[in-house]
Amino acid sequence: MAEDLSISTSTSKARQYEALLPQIVALIAGEPDIIANLGNICAALKQQFNWFWVGFYLVKNDKLVLGPFQGPVACTRIAKGRGVCGTAWQDAKTIIVPDVDAFPGHIACNSSSRSEIVVPLFYNNSVIGVLDVDSEHLQYFDDTDAKYLNQVVGLINFNA
Ligand code: SME
Repeated sequence: MAEDLSISTSTSKARQYEALLPQIVALIAGEPDIIANLGNICAALKQQFNWFWVGFYLVKNDKLVLGPFQGPVACTRIAKGRGVCGTAWQDAKTIIVPDVDAFPGHIACNSSSRSEIVVPLFYNNSVIGVLDVDSEHLQYFDDTDAKYLNQVVGLINFNA
């Protein structure tokens, strides 16, 4: 259960991810409902890293629609190619934005967000959503986050 997550925050980011991954595996094991699992993954990531905002957008009728998240209220619909999320969807790749003000077309759901990482979710080689993480600090995300967040989304079973 999420309340049983047990990881030190005084170790490196990579070690925190390494310790969190098997706990996420256990958290979603045996639960077929995708929304339940996406919700708990957000909660686990928020609990560990205390990011400003972490959540999923899911492709529905050719838009990204807000899914489970932790943090302040957010934009509900994003078109393909728009903002960081819509660009990650269109390009089918992870995007790290060190300074959101320097990203053309960035969608400011909350003015406190200063940097961002967006990781696409794949199913049958198509992007079916994205994981979006925002920080109130500049240059907060790097290749370590990209590596491990891709592993996190790789744990999700979209067949259910
Ligand atoms: N900033 C994102 C929009 C989503 S919010 O950050 C939660 C973007 O530019 O796509």
